[in-house]
Amino acid sequence: MGKTTQLAIRALTFDDIDAAVRLDKKCFGKHDAWHRGSFLYAAANPNAEYLIAELDGKIVGCAGAEIDSDAAEIETVAVDPDRQGQGIGTELFISLLVSVKMRGASVVYLEVRPSNKAAIKLYEKFGFRLVSRIEDFYHDEDAFIMLRNL
Ligand SMILES: CC(C)(COP(=O)(O)OP(=O)(O)OC[C@H]1O[C@@H](n2cnc3c(N)ncnc32)[C@H](O)[C@@H]1OP(=O)(O)O)[C@@H](O)C(=O)NCCC(=O)NCCS
Repeated sequence: MGKTTQLAIRALTFDDIDAAVRLDKKCFGKHDAWHRGSFLYAAANPNAEYLIAELDGKIVGCAGAEIDSDAAEIETVAVDPDRQGQGIGTELFISLLVSVKMRGASVVYLEVRPSNKAAIKLYEKFGFRLVSRIEDFYHDEDAFIMLRNL
């Protein structure tokens, strides 16, 4: 990132929904991307913690989790492909883990495609470990369940 760029991490609001939907489609493709309703629900859900990464006013990342008593499920983390590999995913992830811990989570888990090496590396970097595998979780692939204590 150059000198003039500034990354901000903040909560997702209803005004971000269109940009979040576009970003999600760009990151995950039309088969795996979320529908608008899922983001609307995330923005409205008091048990959800959804964060946006904004670079010079443009939304370049999104990460979110839902908290159920002391467990948080990370539901998404996505960075604009044009901006990947610049530390934005790391910044989002740090902020998300801090937020869910502050909201009472003591364990955090997620599902990831075994083929998604970049995401698995990110999760391992943050101390997540593989605890289980769910067959045919996605329409075309199993899922790894990864978990860490907070
Ligand atoms: C996974 C993702 C969010 C990472 O975001 P990012 O901004 O590129 O991540 P960072 O630049 O902060 O890198 C964080 C770590 O991720 C890993 N990583 C990132 N890109 C990688 C790549 N292409 N190959 C291998 N590891 C990679 C590295 O461990 C890296 O840490 P390091 O730089 O100290 O080695 C991003 O690749 C993405 O949006 N992917 C598409 C959406 C997706 O698959 N989300 C996860 C769904 S479960």
